[in-house]
Amino acid sequence: MKKINLQSLIDEYVPQINDFLVSKLKTAGSEATLIDSMSYSVMAGGKRLRPLLCICTFLALHQKIDSDKIQLASAIELLHTYSLIHDDLPSMDNDDLRRGKPTNHKKYGEAMAILAGDGLQALAFDWMATTHFSNEVKINAIKQFAEAVGPKGMVSGQSRDIVSTGKKISLPELKKLHSEKTGALINFAIKVSGIVSNANEDIISLLNEFGNYYGLAFQIYDDILDVTKTSAELGKTANKDLVEGKNTYPTLLGMKETQVELKKVLSKLDDVLNQLSLLDVNTDYLAAFIDYFK
Ligand code: IPE
Ligand code: IPE
Ligand code: MG
Ligand code: MG
Ligand code: MG
Repeated sequence: MKKINLQSLIDEYVPQINDFLVSKLKTAGSEATLIDSMSYSVMAGGKRLRPLLCICTFLALHQKIDSDKIQLASAIELLHTYSLIHDDLPSMDNDDLRRGKPTNHKKYGEAMAILAGDGLQALAFDWMATTHFSNEVKINAIKQFAEAVGPKGMVSGQSRDIVSTGKKISLPELKKLHSEKTGALINFAIKVSGIVSNANEDIISLLNEFGNYYGLAFQIYDDILDVTKTSAELGKTANKDLVEGKNTYPTLLGMKETQVELKKVLSKLDDVLNQLSLLDVNTDYLAAFIDYFK
């Protein structure tokens, strides 16, 4: 069988996600400045990797992609965009460039950037709650979403990032930080499709493992890209982690050892995919995402 490649999935589903985002954001509220500011960052670009992971997990589970699934996936992108707007604030990472454009606070001012983030976060839960999945499924999904992005997940990771800036932490501490700040939402984007598809416990548990390893690999790779790519290539300021005194894999381990660590995580991903392939899951849709690291 022909291997599914990531680009073909991007070509097919990213336009659908973008169309959905742009049209639904128009009706998100009536305060024009706020809606402009929210839409500016959502539509500034972005790889849409999290919504794509969500959709491709549905495909791996032999589900049809309908507008509810696009809405669920898009809700995850809203939440992610909020996290980027706040991450870039002067009091956080103090970044001027995001998705190839001035950061939200550079364009709209700090107060509006904070509010745009607040708005996007709440709207993400609204979009999830107004899908037409069963109430039982939705409550489970919303609970897990809140856990993934709240004080046991993404926000906890961001807090660990802030309190450890300028201090050296250990590798296990960094792994925990990365797993929370980036891994938790990525993990959710994958696992939620298992929940909505009523997949069995064995499958959900393996999707959870895949999500944890993928999320960790994603942040290790983000740390690598910060050092190896230019601002133009990244659409965000390169070499920022060192300047800001961030704890990253390259600063802690050096680049060579970081690549070794990334490879180890990627091989764990292969192991999990092998196990999933024994359970009537079309793992080609998930294997395609390993291409992101090549
Ligand atoms: C950047 O995420 C923030 C991290 C968690 C590393 P992405 O690299 O997915 O950013 P976009 O969505 O493509 O802009
Ligand atoms: C961002 O991590 C994580 C979240 C937004 C939750 P980074 O600070 O490494 O992301 P970039 O490099 O600014 O995109
Ligand atoms: Mg940060
Ligand atoms: Mg940052
Ligand atoms: Mg980074």
